[in-house]
Amino acid sequence: MKVLITGGAGFIGSACARALIDRGDTAVLVDNFNDYYDPQLKRDRIRKFLKGYEHGFKLYKGDIRNRDFLAKVFATERPDKIIHLAAMAGVRYSIAKPALYADVNVMGTTNMLDMAVEYGVKNFVYASSSSVYGNSSKAKFSETDNVDHPVSPYAATKKATELIAYVYSHIHKLPTTGLRFFTVYGPWGRPDMGVFTFIENIVRGKTVEVFNQGNMRRNFTYIDDIVSGTLTVLDADLPCDVMNIGGDRDEALLDYIAAVEAAVGRKAKKKLLPMQAGDVERTVADIRKLRKLGWKPTTRIDIGVRSFVEWYKSYYGC
Ligand SMILES: NC(=O)c1ccc[n+]([C@@H]2O[C@H](COP(=O)([O-])OP(=O)(O)OC[C@H]3O[C@@H](n4cnc5c(N)ncnc54)[C@H](O)[C@@H]3O)[C@@H](O)[C@H]2O)c1
Repeated sequence: MKVLITGGAGFIGSACARALIDRGDTAVLVDNFNDYYDPQLKRDRIRKFLKGYEHGFKLYKGDIRNRDFLAKVFATERPDKIIHLAAMAGVRYSIAKPALYADVNVMGTTNMLDMAVEYGVKNFVYASSSSVYGNSSKAKFSETDNVDHPVSPYAATKKATELIAYVYSHIHKLPTTGLRFFTVYGPWGRPDMGVFTFIENIVRGKTVEVFNQGNMRRNFTYIDDIVSGTLTVLDADLPCDVMNIGGDRDEALLDYIAAVEAAVGRKAKKKLLPMQAGDVERTVADIRKLRKLGWKPTTRIDIGVRSFVEWYKSYYGC
């Protein structure tokens, strides 16, 4: 099977590509290598993380907002299925650049859905986000919850993406499933994320900024569990759905930091700060829906954090 992955040089996209090639599938990677964070890391995911996998993928550098570019890729490759991950992904930056987020996340996704219909793609799996739940006070976030109150432009674009995908499933019978990812961490991760900067700062003996005085809870989700869940959904070909994908247990932010301290072998210097605009106190996933497809997250936080720290030290040479 040939799978087109947008955001293929990204954290989750490159990991999905590797898993697909491992099981004998072919990946077509599309990425514009933008500089929202250091593009060298994106190039290294292709050159180093995917080293030895060159037989199984082709890379196209380009922008999902460019319809001519996409038309050429689809006409050449004719993918069977799509994993659409390309997006502007940071919550806080979206407050400064809402139009950019709308352009890439909403228009870019619409372009991809158009192409998927035109080329008869069999399944369109796309990235949504736990941030669609906003500041919900529910103990666990379920797919049936009302998500009409996002608290960042980023979250609003992800909710919009779900609505547009629904329309394409409804009108064109294109199978689509949106995955609401909950705080993903692991080797080759995204340097703009808190889960990454905690490791960076603790390894380097720098002060760690802990927002909302550390009173945050997250379903930290190890990258391998995200990949196995994404492929489970890719194989399921559901007519139209949205699913949470998150770790098995919700953890306090301070417990995640403690796991980093244990893996690094050094206590963090913590600076406790108030809540940041656009951020949410807790994102705790109800993952029963995806579990019904036979998926379950298996990576304990201490194990996942240890491999993340080991990768960080070897990649950055410290
Ligand atoms: N990592 C998480 O914890 C998390 C949580 C919730 C949702 N998500 C979503 O999952 C998806 C993948 O996230 P990630 O963590 O791998 O992020 P990432 O930034 O590492 O990957 C996204 C990739 O998309 C590419 N891209 C961005 N705009 C593009 C464009 N216009 N054209 C072509 N390529 C473009 C980027 O260069 C990048 O390599 C995103 O849609 C993100 O919003 C991630």
